[in-house]
Amino acid sequence: MSKNQLLEFYDELDDSVLEETPASQKHLFQKRESKKQVADAKLFVRAQEISREFQFTYKAARFEEAWLLDSLVEIAEHKWISDVLRKVKGGKEASVYLCTSGVAVDAPLLAAKIYRPRMLRNLKNDAQYREGREDLDENGNVIVDDGALHAMKKRTAFGEEVRHQSWIAYEFTTLEILHAAGADVPKPYAMEKNAILMGYVGDQSNPAPILNAINLDHDEARPLFERVVRNIDLMLKHDRIHGDLSAYNILYWNGDITLIDFPQVVIPSSNPSSWNIFLRDVTRICQYFSAQGVTCDARALAADLWTSHGHKIVKEVHPEYLDAEKAEDRRVWKEVMSRK
Ligand SMILES: Nc1ncnc2c1ncn2[C@@H]1O[C@H](COP(=O)(O)OP(=O)(O)O)[C@@H](O)[C@H]1O
Ligand SMILES: [Mg+2]
Repeated sequence: MSKNQLLEFYDELDDSVLEETPASQKHLFQKRESKKQVADAKLFVRAQEISREFQFTYKAARFEEAWLLDSLVEIAEHKWISDVLRKVKGGKEASVYLCTSGVAVDAPLLAAKIYRPRMLRNLKNDAQYREGREDLDENGNVIVDDGALHAMKKRTAFGEEVRHQSWIAYEFTTLEILHAAGADVPKPYAMEKNAILMGYVGDQSNPAPILNAINLDHDEARPLFERVVRNIDLMLKHDRIHGDLSAYNILYWNGDITLIDFPQVVIPSSNPSSWNIFLRDVTRICQYFSAQGVTCDARALAADLWTSHGHKIVKEVHPEYLDAEKAEDRRVWKEVMSRK
């Protein structure tokens, strides 16, 4: 089964599409339906073949199981994992599973994050994050192939697939960079088609809770806040802004924190909206820690960190950050001017 067919199939997992189809598009829908059935059948055949070799402890529902097997087969074949124990968290954009490691890995437990293609639909403002971010292929290399770049621009099914892959690759390569730099992030192990494998935070029976669910002791709050700030600083040092940082994307375990969830990572040196995105990240962190009794002035802190890395504070797109030679930059600038 081709990747395209699979993507279509995954899309169909979202039942709401069914209900939303207007009568005028019925024939289109029927066409999709029959395509879906073919894709369905192929995926299930493939899942059956895979399951002859891999039997996971976690028993998923039929659809989910086929999806899970298809997403993890290569990771299992490479002996990165030996079993899937359970689902840690299911979401509309990604689900995270607890796995036991295979012989190729030195940690006992791993987390597999598997993405669904509809993730892209929920990222309404994705252009804001992608600005200044070259797209990456499934090996984490910058895409230079004209065909792929053109397809992405035109938003063809193939282009969407490439774009989807690029988000995943950004999550993985960011984990690689930050982990090597000593940041508090899970260790990344492997990236496949639509899954990444990383260190698991928690124990066999309990995954680490998100920081937002925790009330910190007074003595604990300040050092942890400083720890988060150290991570933000380290990210800037490596030309990265989390882009969706908050107490929801920080795990808390045994008094330590781990930052997670990086597909939307922003490259500050080449993204004209980066100051706004950065300020929002810092503000959300300060919101949580203020409620935990830590005094912090988000704006002053953000400005300090930002300028200490040589960045200028620009509230909106500043002409200095735009390249008159680039059509995209001219478009952004026009848009900003028309809002004034
Ligand atoms: N490495 C990990 N170890 C343990 N739990 C994790 C890990 N990564 C993610 N999770 C759990 O899965 C949830 C979703 O992961 P996240 O990367 O934030 O994806 P998203 O928010 O896009 O669904 C997290 O809130 C956390 O509960
Ligand atoms: Mg998250």
